[in-house]
Amino acid sequence: MAGIDYDQTGGKDKKILIVGSGGREHALAWKIAQSPLCQELYVAPGNAGTAQWNVPLKANDFDSLVQFARENAVDLTIVGPEEPLSLGLVDAFLAADLKIFGPTKEAAQLESSKAFAKKIMEEAKVPTARYQTFTEITAAREFISKVGAPIVIKADGLAAGKGVIVANQLEEAMEGLEKLMGGAFGSAGEKVVIEEYLEGQEVSLLCFCDGQTAVPMVAVQDHKRALDGDKGLNTGGMGTYSPPPFWTKELEQEVIDRIALPTLRVMQEKGMPFKGVLFLGLMITEQGPKLLEYNVRFGDPETQVVMMLLKSDLLPILEACTEGSLNQSKIDWHAETAICVIMASRGYPGSYETGIPLTLPELTAENQVIFQAGTALKETGLVSSGGRVLGVTVREESLAKARESAYKLIKQIDFPKAHYRTDIGLKGLKT
Ligand code: AMP
Ligand code: GLY
Repeated sequence: MAGIDYDQTGGKDKKILIVGSGGREHALAWKIAQSPLCQELYVAPGNAGTAQWNVPLKANDFDSLVQFARENAVDLTIVGPEEPLSLGLVDAFLAADLKIFGPTKEAAQLESSKAFAKKIMEEAKVPTARYQTFTEITAAREFISKVGAPIVIKADGLAAGKGVIVANQLEEAMEGLEKLMGGAFGSAGEKVVIEEYLEGQEVSLLCFCDGQTAVPMVAVQDHKRALDGDKGLNTGGMGTYSPPPFWTKELEQEVIDRIALPTLRVMQEKGMPFKGVLFLGLMITEQGPKLLEYNVRFGDPETQVVMMLLKSDLLPILEACTEGSLNQSKIDWHAETAICVIMASRGYPGSYETGIPLTLPELTAENQVIFQAGTALKETGLVSSGGRVLGVTVREESLAKARESAYKLIKQIDFPKAHYRTDIGLKGLKT
């Protein structure tokens, strides 16, 4: 790739708006704020960690966001969460002739509809689990009986990571099906995808995309279950580390050639070119990498470790994605390991208390950041306000060291009734 040193090409004159309020958005804001090109940063609505940049606009309030971007001459808007993407925030900005990073509503169906995603995988000949789509519960029941367990059942629509049932027993599969199709997930469960169970190491590969070119970021392993040993309920993610020990350049190339690029080609042929972050949820099986799912955005908490490892300026990369010039970008990464341990409210992903006072240590080293997610600033100080509250993120020369310093840092945080996993990254030390 030809190297363009973007840092030399422009002045500090860019105004950037980030949409969202989680740990992912804090990590993006932290990175963008370091850009030599960034003059002004806004986060809508943000959290206590991004307080210095916050504007009180909701991520789904498209009219107000467009108006704000216009009035403040915002040069680029970056969308964090899937919901505004699936509702067409990018389309609203493009219609107003405003530059925005993320896929259109049509392209975002790769995440917002599992059935659409499976169709694209099929057309692109992407290796994935065999599947069938059902809208009738009787036919779905018969199919499950025929195939047997283990088996995976997925609600078609967005269900905040809770619409997937991995059933080891037939009975569990039938109960899961009743729950998904029985109305508990509203219209997201009117259609289900039932698929083959895949075994292997799970890994997330996020790719910058400009419609044609896909440039991979560092690979990440997430820990989705609430409790140590991958036990308990599925969550949005309890911690991440990067890179996993089994990840190689060859594997990366195979995923780009067999999964990312064919997907971009099919999306382009369909007249819905994909621009933004294409997040590939992969299972590395004995037969090679297979795609579990697409997401159409930065992952949370994948982004926390990815930003910690990104050496290059993020801003020109995102601009290149919107302009279709990604093939000229040169992206440098720290050749180290990063880890992010999520501190959540006790009870998450079920019900939990909020408003718990938090005291964080002052950090000055550039390789240690406590990214904030569900936090708010009250007159009394910093308090918890959500399920996932903090993302303790550290970069070190080895995974063992990164784990050690992240857990040491946690000891310096005063967060009564916090819940966190003690085994983040441990699987990377064992393999
Ligand atoms: P998804 O939202 O599709 O990524 O599914 C959530 C989680 O369920 C994934 O992170 C995997 O751990 C698991 N999963 C999904 N599909 C499969 C599959 N076909 N085989 C095994 N596990 C799966
Ligand atoms: N951590 C998984 C996700 O962002 O979907």
